[in-house]
Amino acid sequence: MDRRLWAENYASSLLADNPRRLAHSRAVATTASELADVLLDDPDERSVLVAAAWLHDIGYAPVLATTGAHHLDGAIHLEELGEHRLACLVAHHGSGAAETALRGFADEFAQFPRELSLVADILTYCDLSCGPDGTRLTLDERLREIRARYGDDHVVVRGLEADGDVIRGAFRRVDLRLANLKPDATIQAITGSGRDSPK
Ligand SMILES: [Fe+2]
Repeated sequence: MDRRLWAENYASSLLADNPRRLAHSRAVATTASELADVLLDDPDERSVLVAAAWLHDIGYAPVLATTGAHHLDGAIHLEELGEHRLACLVAHHGSGAAETALRGFADEFAQFPRELSLVADILTYCDLSCGPDGTRLTLDERLREIRARYGDDHVVVRGLEADGDVIRGAFRRVDLRLANLKPDATIQAITGSGRDSPK
């Protein structure tokens, strides 16, 4: 089965009881697909990115939530399925490394090395450009939304603060790639949606 379709079906089934999280995952995958079409030449890289976008939050599924660290729980499951690259991408999306360490699972997390790539950057960009119901947000809007939802002292917020440079670096690199594209209708639509540059 096509990797993208498998990931869509798999995430949709795992998150079926959490329609809001699924709507977010769908929006992340849609944004990733749009960006993949204009920023990634290799069809296999496009497919990996979109699959990772669909799967990035499966660690929230009750059946997989064993440690409560969703980056790690999702990655462990994908590793069990033999999907090592997807596991590493899912582990490190957003503030995965910092949040998982703050939750006390740094040792378990170490089996998932960070991939330094445009695919990894775009995954973080898409996750932090889509709100919990799929609404497109700027990075700063998204960070404010998360802080308002969880509270200042929550480990999710502290993880995002700790990995702030990593996240803003990913946004900077993706924004730079988008700015270097020749404008056309599709690209304008995308840059209009991911409209904020990190400060
Ligand atoms: Fe997410």
